[in-house]
Formats: sequence, structure tokens, C-alpha cells
Amino acid sequence: MCGIVGYIGHRDAYPIIIKGLKRLEYRGYDSAGLVLYDGADLKMSKTKGKVSDLELKAEKEGTTIGKVGMGHTRWATHGVPNDVNSHPHFSNSGKLVIIHNGIIENYEPLKIELIKRGYVFKSDTDTEVLINLIEEVKKKENCKLGKAVQIALNQVVGAYAIAVIDVEKPDEIVVARLGSPLALGIGENEYFIASDASPFIEYTSNAIYLEDEEMAIVRLNKPIKIRKIKDDSLVDPYIQELQMNLEQIEKGGYDHFMLKEIYEQPSVIKDTYRGRLLVDQGIIRMAGVEDNLEKFTNAKRIVIIACGTSWHAGLVAEYIIEEFARIPVEVEYASEFRYRNPIINKDDVVIAISQSGETADTLAAIKLAKEKGAFVFGVCNVVGSSISRETQAGAYTHAGPEIGVASTKAFTTQITVLTMLALRLAKAKGTMPNSEYQRYLLELELIPKKVEEALQTTNEAAKAIAAIYKDSPNCLYLGRGYNFPVALEGALKLKEISYIHAEGYPAAEMKHGPIALIDESMPVIVIAPNKGHYDKVVSNIQEIKSRSGKIIAIVTKGDTQVKALADHVIEIPETTEALTPLLTTIPLQLLSYHIAVMRGCNVDQPRNLAKSVTVE
Ligand code: F6R
Repeated sequence: MCGIVGYIGHRDAYPIIIKGLKRLEYRGYDSAGLVLYDGADLKMSKTKGKVSDLELKAEKEGTTIGKVGMGHTRWATHGVPNDVNSHPHFSNSGKLVIIHNGIIENYEPLKIELIKRGYVFKSDTDTEVLINLIEEVKKKENCKLGKAVQIALNQVVGAYAIAVIDVEKPDEIVVARLGSPLALGIGENEYFIASDASPFIEYTSNAIYLEDEEMAIVRLNKPIKIRKIKDDSLVDPYIQELQMNLEQIEKGGYDHFMLKEIYEQPSVIKDTYRGRLLVDQGIIRMAGVEDNLEKFTNAKRIVIIACGTSWHAGLVAEYIIEEFARIPVEVEYASEFRYRNPIINKDDVVIAISQSGETADTLAAIKLAKEKGAFVFGVCNVVGSSISRETQAGAYTHAGPEIGVASTKAFTTQITVLTMLALRLAKAKGTMPNSEYQRYLLELELIPKKVEEALQTTNEAAKAIAAIYKDSPNCLYLGRGYNFPVALEGALKLKEISYIHAEGYPAAEMKHGPIALIDESMPVIVIAPNKGHYDKVVSNIQEIKSRSGKIIAIVTKGDTQVKALADHVIEIPETTEALTPLLTTIPLQLLSYHIAVMRGCNVDQPRNLAKSVTVE
């Protein structure tokens, strides 16, 4: 969480930093700040609130001049989000200044030690401790900033992506990373520093992604030198060509990124299977799977680790992989897995799912699984992310940048990748008749068209239903089989962007407790496609109906039985049962979106959340 941006070069740094921070606001948005070297001194503005508040303040305070500078948008970990706790933070002498994404876990003993040496602290942050530690080392060792940063970081426990400027050497910015991402953009006589490449995409397509435990001195008109923090050894910089373009990170005429991303699903699902789903040849080919096919087919068990929406995609995959490939699957929250001494055997395959590829708990769970000898396969969206590099093989989802904090297209593209994986394993293991396998390939190819149709036909219905139920304090989501995880995901979407309490349940579990909640004021969203457990779901709907609950049903086009019972229905196109989550999820995304808009919530930046959860 937290976004950082820096610039050193021949352009005005201020607009680059402000624009960059706006693009990184998905990483945290409770306070923001910037510092610029104006040719004589370091000038800082910072404030509680969003980057737009910072912009107003910086312009009022005249903090807009300089060709070197850096900025920060924060998701608070230590200290409430107020002006003082916002970044940047100066050292006591006022000569060094830092921005930081991450957590310094041992900041308390370090702070006590620094206080004993006469340091005073203005904020409650761990970051202010780090900059004063760097200052103390610099003084004591009488060394340059780079060396001081290196020595200080070797005393620190935690996670960080930092950038530091020394007013006495304003032609360089020292950066370092451990556990939080840091990208360096390489332009002509200019450098950019950022949490991801989006702040510098229009200036350069050449980037270096620092690895964990690396630091660099970014110096004007000099090549970047990268060193290992631990042993000072030099690292050859690997310059990557960026695949991202500007259009992908703008709203493109939509009111919100979330809506844009919902509507992108037909095209990104196609991108996900392009070159992999080869219907003409009757095969699925995914490089990361082909290269490791034996590991998958010999696996006694697949363990899926993920958080949030990605965990829900993992649950859908559990149903699909077990059904298609007959391999036992367990799905775990990464945060639980990493702290519970899990039993992992050498012939287990672990699949880690993460949109951002930076989620701290998932990353730690991967490391643990690897230590225990498992083969770890990643399903990530962000190319070059920490998780994509930490896993031994993987498949990208190719959903393009997801900027709305609520995950939408990441979910459907993750399911698409995992469905292809399940089909490929079924083929390799001979657990599915070829005719059925071919039918799935054909049906999967049709999904983008059907998602397109679902978007067209369900939006107005979702909007009308949203208008009726937008003020409900609670909401239940029910599904069975493949659509039970979709119920969980629907409830999560509603909670996170509209702040309405919502719960997802397997429909049959209602009578084991939750049915006590049903009365005439309780909206119950039931996912009831005409496949699988349809009759059972109809019975569940009857049980709710007889207790006066309000039923909003997601049904297959042409349904009559549920229609006769439900208060409202939303129709989706027909597809084969295992693929229904790719369609049933669409109206649920739209329903949450419209409710949040009608309630006046900040759809793209819901309160208390951040897109990339780089703290545990
Ligand atoms: C919900 C949402 C979160 C993420 C979770 C995992 O809409 O976005 O629940 O799914 O934080 O993030 P990734 O997939 O980046 O590991």
C-alpha cells in the first residue's frame, strides 16, 4: 500500500509527481505529500486527504518549482492519517527527506535508541524513525547518503520501498526495496521512480524493476548503479520494455474505473485465452503449464492460496479442477496458510492467485510453500510483479491494469486461466471424454460474446433493482456449486464499495442458521442458472419466500420457474454449468456499482481500502 513517485531530470518535477500520484492513488488515498528541490532548498507540502487536496495546498504554498522531487500517497499503517503523519518526512537536521511504502517492524526500539541520542519526533510514523536512523548513521560513519541508507537498512526489520534525498546532494535520489515494489523509468537524461510504471508511461517505455534487497543511486546524467543492500555487490541492471499504454490507465469516457473495467471483460477474457485456447486444433496450450505438466499430473493435491476476490476465484477453481481433472484441491486464505505450519508435501502443487502480484500474505505463503518443497505456480495480472517473480512458473491473466479498488475483470480472467488449466489437466490425465473437452473449448471461446450480451441486457435491470434496495442495511447472497463462490464475491463487492453489510452463503446452509435473518426487509440475491442444482435452488427460494424475504434472482434467459417466485429477476445468457460464474458475476458487479453510485460512495476508492495490500 502507499504509492511513491520521484523524478530527477530536465523537466518540471511537479506536474509529473502530481499526475503520477493520481495514477497511484489506488494504492492508498488517506493523505498525500511531496517535496521539491527548488535550486536552493527542499520545499515540502503535505496534507490529509487526496492528491487533489495536496494539489490545492502545494499551489497555495508555492511548492511547484524544481527539476528534482518526490511524492507520496498514503494508506496509513502507523499513526492516524493527518497532515503530520503524511509523507515525506524530514530528518531532525532538515537535510534528509524520505518517502516510504511499507512497514518498519522494529521501529520502536530504534526510536527509543534515537531519542536517547537526542532525536525528537514530530509524527507517530515508523518512517520518521528510518530517516533519522539514516541521519544518525551518516553522521557517525561520516559517509555519503547511499552508504548511510545501506547501513541503516541492514538494521531494519520490515518491508520498504523508499526514496531519499539529501539537500546537500540534490542531483541524486537513493532508492531501495524489500517487499514493496519499486520501478525505475529510464528516459533521456532523466529518471523516474515509482511504485509501478503508470506514472512514467508517457515518458519512457524502458524500466528497471528493483528486486528485493536491492538499492540504487539514481544520479542525474549518470547510469543507474544497483547494489545488494546486504553485501554491497553490484547487480547488472535488467532494462525491460513496458507493455502498458496510456489508454489502459485512463477512464476512457466512463464515470469510474470500476465501470470501465466491468465493461472491458469481454475483450480481456479474449486476451486471456488468446494464443492459448486453440479451438481449431482442439487443444489448450499454456507455456507455464506445458513446461510443468508432469508436476501437475503427478500432483497428489493442489493447494490454492490467495486473498479476497482472488481467493473466491480459487474457490471456483476448486470446483472446476476437481470436476474436470479429478485432483483434490484445497483453497486457503494466504494469511491463514502462512501462520499455521501447513502440511505441504513435495508432490503438492501450490497455485498462488493474485491480481496485483504484490499481496504481502500471498507472497509470504508462496515463500513458505517453496521452503517446504512444493512447486508453486502463479496466476497474476501484473507483469513483472513480486509474486510473478517469486513463483516457479505461472500464467498471466492479461486483464490489463485494474485501477478500481474493487476487483472485477481480475476475477473473471483468473477464472478463465484456471478453467483452461483444469481443461488441460483433464486432457493430460484422461479424466474427461474428448467430445466433452471439445465442447468446453467451443463454449469457452463463446464466453466473451455472452459476457457482452450480459452487460447489455443486465445493466438496466441491475440499476432498477439498485434504486429499490440501495438503502437496505443488509443483504444476503446465495448460490450453490460453482456459484457459491460467486455469492461470496457478490457480497464482497457490495460490502466494499457501498458499505452495506452483506453475506454470501451456500444456499443449502440457510436453514442451518441464517434463515433466522429473513423478514420482509431482507433482500436475498439468489444465483439460480438453469443448470446443476437448479431444483434445489428453487426449493431454497421457496423457503425464503415463505418467510417474506425479497428475492432478486439471477436466472438463465427464458427461465419461468424462478421468475414465478422471485420479486425481481435478471437474465443471463445460457452456458454450460462450469462456466456460469463468468456470466452470473456480471449482474452482481453492476448491482454493487449502481448501489454505490446511488449512495454517493467513492466507487473507485472505497474508504479504508487500498488496491495493493503490501502489508500483512
Ligand atoms: C476485492 C479486492 C481484494 C483483493 C485482495 C487480493 O475487490 O480487490 O479483496 O482481491 O486484496 O489482492 P490480489 O489479487 O492483488 O492479491
